[in-house]
Amino acid sequence: MIILSGIQPSGTLHVGNYFGMMCPAIELQDQGESYYFIADYHSMTSLYDANERRKNTLDVALDFLACGLDPAKAVFFRQSDVPEVCELTWLLSTLTPMGLLERCHSYKDKMAKGLAPNHGLFAYPVLMAADILIYDSNIVPVGRDQKQHVEVTRDIAVKFNQAYGETFVIPEPQIRDSVAVVPGTDGQKMSKSYENTIQIFGNEKPLRKTIMRLVMDSRLPEEPKPDADQNIAVQLMRLVATKDVADDWEERLRAGGLGYGDLKKGLFEHYWEFFSDARAKRSELESNLDYVNQVLKDGANKARERASKVLDRARKNCGLV
Ligand code: ADP
Ligand code: TRP
Repeated sequence: MIILSGIQPSGTLHVGNYFGMMCPAIELQDQGESYYFIADYHSMTSLYDANERRKNTLDVALDFLACGLDPAKAVFFRQSDVPEVCELTWLLSTLTPMGLLERCHSYKDKMAKGLAPNHGLFAYPVLMAADILIYDSNIVPVGRDQKQHVEVTRDIAVKFNQAYGETFVIPEPQIRDSVAVVPGTDGQKMSKSYENTIQIFGNEKPLRKTIMRLVMDSRLPEEPKPDADQNIAVQLMRLVATKDVADDWEERLRAGGLGYGDLKKGLFEHYWEFFSDARAKRSELESNLDYVNQVLKDGANKARERASKVLDRARKNCGLV
């Protein structure tokens, strides 16, 4: 079984990224041949600062390794180190109906926010399809917002197979229901683009502040809260504390008598503890950047070997060779 996922180096990673994608991906590394990459080509659709891209790419590498990605088990690489993926994007583009891309939510959301459309942003799901198909991937662990892109990938793969004969494996998205949409500090989906994130790594003081600023309603502490399970702090607590501990906080909130300030303080303590091992690992890696760069280089070599085989198969089947 081949498992594949990617993450863009377009900003600082947050707990939504961790629970929605990184943690499931890390757990899957024990269950098959896994390929995880830093989607730097993708980041070009929204980030136009070269130094920032370089810095973010290194940060994603450090974050992912610190969180438990094990290069002895998973192939970890930078997307642009496998340029074959761009050639495959072209082959797939010629079979991708415009309507399929026009229906993509993430494109429509960006348009609705007033972003000037460019061809890269529009064609982004085709590059993502190439990312997935070029490794013969079976399983793609992602958060719910990426499900449609994997469905587009499936459609394109089926069309190619129909036109040119069996070429690509049809992949399946894998989405964990419990963490499909991690809420941000304002209760909307946590996302870099909504400025409502809680970072995985960073300094204690600003992170404590971020958590203390979680948006709550104006009910008094003593009032019972029958909707305690809907509270953002309780939902986040479920991710970073054990079930018993989270149940206890939820019950105390439901009963009345627990102030939101105390709940948030409790959340911060659990959150800080949850990532403490990863934090230590990250600082160790920061002083060993040669190792990190070597991991990406070795990963690129392995990924490229596999990608070129699949690209050759596609080239042959469509009559380029
Ligand atoms: P962002 O929305 O912050 O830009 P990305 O689109 O780069 O995040 O997402 C990277 C990965 O993390 C994807 O697999 C995505 O589904 C997952 N992810 C992002 N935000 C969340 C969230 N709030 N809840 C669950 N998964 C998420
Ligand atoms: N589009 C994904 C995101 O924004 C990143 C990504 C690029 C990806 N290529 C992929 C994820 C292939 C899974 C598989 O989060």
